[in-house]
Amino acid sequence: MSAMASLLFHLLCCLTVFWLLPLPSHSADPDPLQDFCVANLSASISVNGFPCKPASEVTSDDFFFDGFTQEGNTTNAFASFLTPGNVLSFPGLNSLGISMNRVDFAPGGINPPHSHPRASEVGVVIEGKLLVGFVTTNNVYYSKVLTAGHMFAIPRGLVHFQLNVGDGKALAYTAFNSHLPGAAVVPLNLFASSIPNEVLTKTFQVDADLINTIKSKFRS
Ligand code: GLV
Ligand code: MN
Repeated sequence: MSAMASLLFHLLCCLTVFWLLPLPSHSADPDPLQDFCVANLSASISVNGFPCKPASEVTSDDFFFDGFTQEGNTTNAFASFLTPGNVLSFPGLNSLGISMNRVDFAPGGINPPHSHPRASEVGVVIEGKLLVGFVTTNNVYYSKVLTAGHMFAIPRGLVHFQLNVGDGKALAYTAFNSHLPGAAVVPLNLFASSIPNEVLTKTFQVDADLINTIKSKFRS
């Protein structure tokens, strides 16, 4: 290789490395650029996150949240209730890359299969007995029955659920490496959205009556 060709080759390698370095391939939310940034949820501009409330208007209350003090109302089809503690309910989390949920279960209740596009999840069972499971992109299923004090981890983006398999109520707290992890709830995505029946009948290889029966379960 001539000296010029070798120089060009090295230059190209360096440029490739410098181009790849800033890609946030291992992170969830980006790191904050200031101590805090309490979300101004009513700001008219939209950025990747929420604009910060002026520091002069920030008070202690912005960093405390009492939304988990009440048990969720589990009188619904899934017999479970999820109370989110994310940037929308707790604006002090804005840009911190963390959030939590409280999840209550009546006996037999399920937090149905769902995934979080923007975060991995960890959880701890506080009360009761939960079957916790997730499925990989290769359709491998991992699960365990957990009781109080046991913790679980769900890798980012994978479909997972919790089912109350105990005799009484169950309670879990979950945490995420995103201030707004998002949740794509599989049954609602498929059967409570306006995806055409033709897509669903072909996908599941069943007739429209069955699809309509399932859809009717999710109509309010
Ligand atoms: C549980 O899976 C949760 O998302 O809180
Ligand atoms: Mn989850």
